Amino acid sequence: MDQDRKFLDTFLIVIGALVAMTIVIFFIATGVEKAHLDPDNLENPLAQQAVTDRIRPIGEVATTDNPRPAPVTTAPSGAEQAREADAEVSGEAVFTQACFACHGTGAAGAPRPGDKAQWEPRIAKGMEVLYQHSLEGFTGNTGIMPPKGGRMDLSDEQVKAAVDYMVEQSR
Ligand code: HEC
Repeated sequence: MDQDRKFLDTFLIVIGALVAMTIVIFFIATGVEKAHLDPDNLENPLAQQAVTDRIRPIGEVATTDNPRPAPVTTAPSGAEQAREADAEVSGEAVFTQACFACHGTGAAGAPRPGDKAQWEPRIAKGMEVLYQHSLEGFTGNTGIMPPKGGRMDLSDEQVKAAVDYMVEQSR
């Protein structure tokens, strides 16, 4: 009887210890996973890699110490651009390529994204009007917006995506 009692005590202690360990391991595992999934956490090796990739110089010299420089991403050719455009319309990319020259600097009176005061009355016209003005051109109080910003090779979707992007930045 005494032996049974002792066995049961030991057994319960062992089970208790295992349960406690399970809980501890569970929390450690969740913490590790979080650190690895959060792209803003700079302790995350994937995020570190992403930052390194972003700030890497576009050209590198191959030496014996550095036999294989990272692939240089050159500006895509026109045909590649068109193919990419079919695959995905990124308003930000279109903006950078086609609209930034005027809208990024405010040159010729172009409203800059993020300048809420300049954009408020324009956004108030409604998206349809802004789309139409950027596709067909528009002469307003501050200057001349050429049709599609002068980039007739852009599709309507691309131009609209760029408008969406600018408006998104300026709300
Ligand atoms: C050559 C310079 C130039 C380029 C390039 C340019 N814009 Fe503009 N854009 C202007 C100017 C100037 C205005 C302001 C016109 C005004 O209100 O007087 C303007 C105004 C606009 C407006 C507001 C129209 C309104 O009704 O208030 C939108 C939307 C717009 N541009 C979109 C674009 C997009 C999208 C691109 C790129 C595809 C682009 N622009 C490229 C000069 C440019």
